[in-house]
Amino acid sequence: MPKHRNAILAGTALCLFVGASTPLKAQLSDAINDAILGGGQRQPQVENPQAPPPAEQPPAAAEPPVSEQPPAAAAPDPQQDAQPDPAAKADPEPIAPPAAAEQPAAADADPNYSGGGPAPMPGAGAPVLARLTSGDEPSLGTGIRLSQEEISSGNVGFRQMMEIGRHLFTQSFTSVEGYGEGPTGPREQKRHQMNGNGIGPMAAFAQIPWMRVHGLDAQACLECHNVAGFETPAGGATPGRTVRPDRVSGAGAVTSAAIINPLLELPAPKWVVDAFAERGVTDPGNMYAVFLRNPPHVFGAGYTQKLAEEMSFDLLSQRRAAIDQAVQNRGQWYEIRLNSKGTSFGRYQVRVDQGAPAPGELLQPCGSEPGLTERCDRIEGVSEDFIVRPFQWKGIASNMRNFVRDALNFHFGMVPDELIAQGANPDPDGDGFVHEVSIGEVTALTTFALGARPPSVFTPTDAGEVAEVARGRSIFEGRAGGDPSVACVTCHQSSKTVLNPVVRVHDPRPDQESMRIVARESSGTAPVLTVTENGVGLGQAAPRGLPLPVEQEFLEGGQTAAQERAVAAAATAKESTGRQLPAGAAFAFNLNMNTPFEDRVFLAAQPRLASDATGAIVVPLFSDLKRHKMGRCLADVIHQQTDRAGVFVPRDQFVTRPLWGLADTGPWLHDGRALSIRDAILKHSDNACADNGSGYVSEANAAVAAFQALPEADQNALIAFLHTLRLPRDTGFDAVDQNR
Ligand code: HEC
Ligand code: HEC
Repeated sequence: MPKHRNAILAGTALCLFVGASTPLKAQLSDAINDAILGGGQRQPQVENPQAPPPAEQPPAAAEPPVSEQPPAAAAPDPQQDAQPDPAAKADPEPIAPPAAAEQPAAADADPNYSGGGPAPMPGAGAPVLARLTSGDEPSLGTGIRLSQEEISSGNVGFRQMMEIGRHLFTQSFTSVEGYGEGPTGPREQKRHQMNGNGIGPMAAFAQIPWMRVHGLDAQACLECHNVAGFETPAGGATPGRTVRPDRVSGAGAVTSAAIINPLLELPAPKWVVDAFAERGVTDPGNMYAVFLRNPPHVFGAGYTQKLAEEMSFDLLSQRRAAIDQAVQNRGQWYEIRLNSKGTSFGRYQVRVDQGAPAPGELLQPCGSEPGLTERCDRIEGVSEDFIVRPFQWKGIASNMRNFVRDALNFHFGMVPDELIAQGANPDPDGDGFVHEVSIGEVTALTTFALGARPPSVFTPTDAGEVAEVARGRSIFEGRAGGDPSVACVTCHQSSKTVLNPVVRVHDPRPDQESMRIVARESSGTAPVLTVTENGVGLGQAAPRGLPLPVEQEFLEGGQTAAQERAVAAAATAKESTGRQLPAGAAFAFNLNMNTPFEDRVFLAAQPRLASDATGAIVVPLFSDLKRHKMGRCLADVIHQQTDRAGVFVPRDQFVTRPLWGLADTGPWLHDGRALSIRDAILKHSDNACADNGSGYVSEANAAVAAFQALPEADQNALIAFLHTLRLPRDTGFDAVDQNR
């Protein structure tokens, strides 16, 4: 463990007021790229036109504008695509299956998109039409069921994981495999109660398997994550639009909103009841929605998770460094600036009078660690446990696996095995089905959610538009003459760099204590570790005493910062050969797709972002991954619990939403209230609604005022720039299997 605590950080002297160490990028050897998980063939990558040279701190000065768009050399000429085939019209032959070479899929590649993608491999065959699942058969049929033991043996590659994961994402779960709840499920009991004598608020829902409010709201992930934008097909006589192909992993329209109301469970979670009581409502029984949420897209999520984990490593190590120093000078206050990847998270202060946490120990959230006197009120934009949570609008889930696990239970009543503690009731939702989703299947679905290709960037061809977009970007980034301290980029940071490209899907098996969740804190009793009383929320909470997966990894890796860990990981990987999963990982893959696990191309994961010789990747996320106070109009009704018990996100705080892919994801904002991007900008401000007495003030007021003060042409340029942030366009649906 602490053997990796090498000399790198030794030079970072900590004094009374310590600045975070500057990135030690030079320390990264080129080992990471080739060596993590062993060597391997490189896969297609695109240059990232949004990616500035690794300067992460806004405003990014010498930013190359969109004109850096690489020519998508491998993509076919769009003109060819646009020409209707004259032979097709003249030829009266009956319809025959097209020959392999005529498959239109890969010809969709468009050089206007950075997601142009690779051309099909030679020998590509026709798509295989699977038998339709009708609900008469389980969607988790033969060839799809997957155990964690199989994955852990190292025999399952990235491609197969993605195929199974995509199946799980797109297929409809049905009542023959455990969809929904039985009469003793937490929502069914409540439904029954609300149905009353047949004329209650849920009366019309009495006989159906779904509820729509508080989960049981869809049969497939795809039902909600299915919007990837629109386009005008080439060659049409009129510019009518149609949906883009292959929308798997997309965003959701209003019909797909999640209407979350934890009061529709029996018993209602204690923290929800308490939060209402704090607002003076002791009987919130007839609430329709407590949280209304708009489905974000899932593209590029592996990059997002890596960024957040590395940021958590940095913040956790900064806290540790301050404590270590304070232990050596007892009675003396120490302060450290919390900072990672160009985002400042305020300051943390600590004093140790007597006692001290043991070196390898999991620390309790700020303010509750015995033996430490801490000041936590100057920590900004991250929870008091120092974990950067990138997922969900408020920053609730610290990692994808936790989220996917809970989504299965919440949306479908498909209870993953890993929600069931050993010895607990194996059928907590009371529907008569056990083992509804295996650990391996959650691993596959998580891998799919993390492995999707990143969003793309549209580059206009018209010179006037190119100039307008460049102007818009410079306004966005505060480089156009206005006050840079109120630019959009102060929150929506243009890019951040992933140092270690290996994505881990964490292993939840019983020896991995960290993945056990607390169930529901039912009124008056201490948290329990079984799910027999478990709620169904999105973001089930781990108990305070157990580490989250990212903390487990932090503790196991010698409690070092991201930079040092990346170097150590590269060194360790050099020693290993072949397909070997890192310890504690249920699966792992390399974002640069260059290890033996990714030896087969999976087109829905292509193309990737470019990486440098160390394997590091500049990710054009347009977010600081920090929470901000967004004012009285956007504030929620009550606070929301994160994936750690007792750690809450205040009503008015939201994570800066990453803007990559933005243009194809409307409606916008956390509840979909904005029907245009302009509207989304204006609704950052407290001026968007009447004073409701909440006292909340938006941190974005000045940015919106600056936007409104711009000449109309500049406002339009800013929006034109945002319109270039697109979801990836289909580059050849992967049913074409070139190398199985
Ligand atoms: C009823 C619609 C619906 C269904 C079905 C659904 N989602 Fe979502 N998804 C949402 C909403 C709404 C959010 C935002 C939740 C929040 O912010 O709290 C979301 C968020 C996410 C996120 C986090 C994205 C981010 O950047 O914050 C991921 C990942 C995700 N969903 C994956 C899935 C998977 C996997 C499934 C299937 C198991 C699924 N979703 C099923 C609506 C849905
Ligand atoms: C104080 C930080 C902050 C500033 C400054 C800021 N934003 Fe945001 N932005 C956010 C947060 C947080 C959200 C999510 C808010 C929500 O959904 O309630 C968001 C959401 C958005 C969205 C909607 C994203 C989506 O997927 O629905 C757009 C568009 C956007 N911002 C653009 C801008 C532009 C343009 C500017 C500059 C004029 C700007 N923002 C300034 C923090 C900020």
